[in-house]
Amino acid sequence: MDIVALARMKETGRKIVMVTAYDTPSARCAEEAGVDVVLVGDSVGEVALGYPNTLPVTMEVMIHHTAAVSRGLSRCFLVGDMPFLSYQPDVATAVRNAGRFLQEGGAQAVKLEGGSQFRAQIEAILGCGIPVLGHLGYTPQSVHLFGSRRVQGRSLEQARRLYQEAKFLESVGCFGIVLEVVPGELARVITESVSIPTIGIGSGPHCDGQVLVLHDLLGWSFRPPFKHAKAYADLRGTITGAVAQYAAEVREGAFPGEEHTFRAADYQRLTREQLEADE
Ligand code: KIV
Repeated sequence: MDIVALARMKETGRKIVMVTAYDTPSARCAEEAGVDVVLVGDSVGEVALGYPNTLPVTMEVMIHHTAAVSRGLSRCFLVGDMPFLSYQPDVATAVRNAGRFLQEGGAQAVKLEGGSQFRAQIEAILGCGIPVLGHLGYTPQSVHLFGSRRVQGRSLEQARRLYQEAKFLESVGCFGIVLEVVPGELARVITESVSIPTIGIGSGPHCDGQVLVLHDLLGWSFRPPFKHAKAYADLRGTITGAVAQYAAEVREGAFPGEEHTFRAADYQRLTREQLEADE
């Protein structure tokens, strides 16, 4: 999978399937499930590392997880998410950190939140040959500006601004745009108005593709469920149930059983005297 194939999917109307992953086994599962694009999102901070939001996530954390995910993939397109303050301060910082995702993380592209306010950074990253996925609407790194996870683009004025930013990201050369929690009708118009794929999360069915946070999709989350996120499994229940069963079996002496216990070729029963005897 590459950005040319993703562009072709928009042309042909084939939906792009994207999911987050943070480690090797979940990346392998995503690939075996036929996912097109894997995103190592900075949501790792919230869903896997126990932070209240994505702000504490550093480049070191992102590279560590991106490299782990890349070891689980051979076919999917891998996008690394640029964390808070890894691109905002200046162009040199942005280029150096974007490059690390490819060089050290094994990603093929980076995603960054925002639009024209980061024109210089986006152009410089693209100028180094690194594909960029834009991200508009609710952008979690600005949580304290938004106040909470709020639908963006509800007023006509906001909708116009988001539309212009989407056109900007297209014009500057991004290969796609994530639209996070914007009204479905706005996502539809943006999707029909740009030549690059839109990937929605909480933005309705008209986007060219969809992304979900893996832990939300799997029901493996301790945060309150979002309206937009459908849980296709109850992994939290499954995991808790399995661990509780293990704990009960250990306490009862039911685990480990004969089948989990190794035998020795030289002896079947053993006494302390045999071990203490001189050879
Ligand atoms: O960090 C993340 O997982 C994301 C997706 C929600 C798009 O940015």
